[in-house]
Amino acid sequence: MSDLVRIEKAGLGYGGRSRGHAVLRDISLTIGIDERVGLIGETGSGKSTLARSLLGLTTVFSGSVRVDGTDLASLRGRTLRAFRRSGVVQYVYQDPLRSLDPDVEVSASIAEGLLIRAELSTDEVRQAVDDAIRLVGLDPSLRKRFPGELSGGQRQRIVLARALVLSPQLLILDEPVSALDASSRVQILDLLRLVADERRMSQLFISHDLGSVAGVTDRLIVLYRGEIVEDGPTAQVLEEPRHPYTKLLIESAPTLAKPGADRERRRELRVALESFTS
Ligand SMILES: Nc1ncnc2c1ncn2[C@@H]1O[C@H](COP(=O)(O)OP(=O)(O)OP(=O)(O)O)[C@@H](O)[C@H]1O
Ligand SMILES: [Mg+2]
Repeated sequence: MSDLVRIEKAGLGYGGRSRGHAVLRDISLTIGIDERVGLIGETGSGKSTLARSLLGLTTVFSGSVRVDGTDLASLRGRTLRAFRRSGVVQYVYQDPLRSLDPDVEVSASIAEGLLIRAELSTDEVRQAVDDAIRLVGLDPSLRKRFPGELSGGQRQRIVLARALVLSPQLLILDEPVSALDASSRVQILDLLRLVADERRMSQLFISHDLGSVAGVTDRLIVLYRGEIVEDGPTAQVLEEPRHPYTKLLIESAPTLAKPGADRERRRELRVALESFTS
């Protein structure tokens, strides 16, 4: 598998190169094309910082952060904006309310990234927006609503639609299902698997909850106090955790199913649910 992301011995954090502070030191990792990776760690461990570095939003104090061959630390101002606009990396933020402008209706929010590219006609943009709304399981009639007129779960789906419409090569999902109820959670995780398969998209799932990402990822990376303490195939990390923190995470996720088993369980649940509602 070739790499879409390659972070080598990177020190990542905030502030100027001389006076700022590194949250993560000497971090190395890769994300393959098509690969689905889970990034786990306690609150404040630097998960979002690491993910934000993939959009050039943090300071790179040392080492390098490469996405699709581009060294992000070498980009400045205009070149950095061009990289972000290219849509190669899309970041679905933790807080859907903050990622949608309350005064912009849903259709315009979703269309924004497409309009910047400006190679589509008005009709094509409208069609793409409606397709994206349908893709995330909502009705296109919601297009005229404002974010404040949606439920939390609907908002989260709109934020996802806004990212998916740009067909990113890497989709970063920061606590993607924490605001959703159990059945919406299953739907969104299934949808993400579908788009990953259909569009050859890499996905980075960020969570403090091992149980919610183990079933949907090929590989797990565990961050602890600014260091990577685990990086391996999901099944292997679950079966032979190396670090005590990972062991603790596994212990404290009693419902943790082995990958694959999770899908089986969801299928059972869906069948049960269908017979319950029909
Ligand atoms: N813009 C910023 N400027 C300075 N320090 C920051 C900034 N954003 C985050 N930090 C600090 O970096 C550290 C890591 O934060 P980060 O947001 O990466 O944690 P996280 O692992 O995503 O946590 P959570 O699970 O709570 O989202 C924290 O100590 C935080 O205070
Ligand atoms: Mg975070």
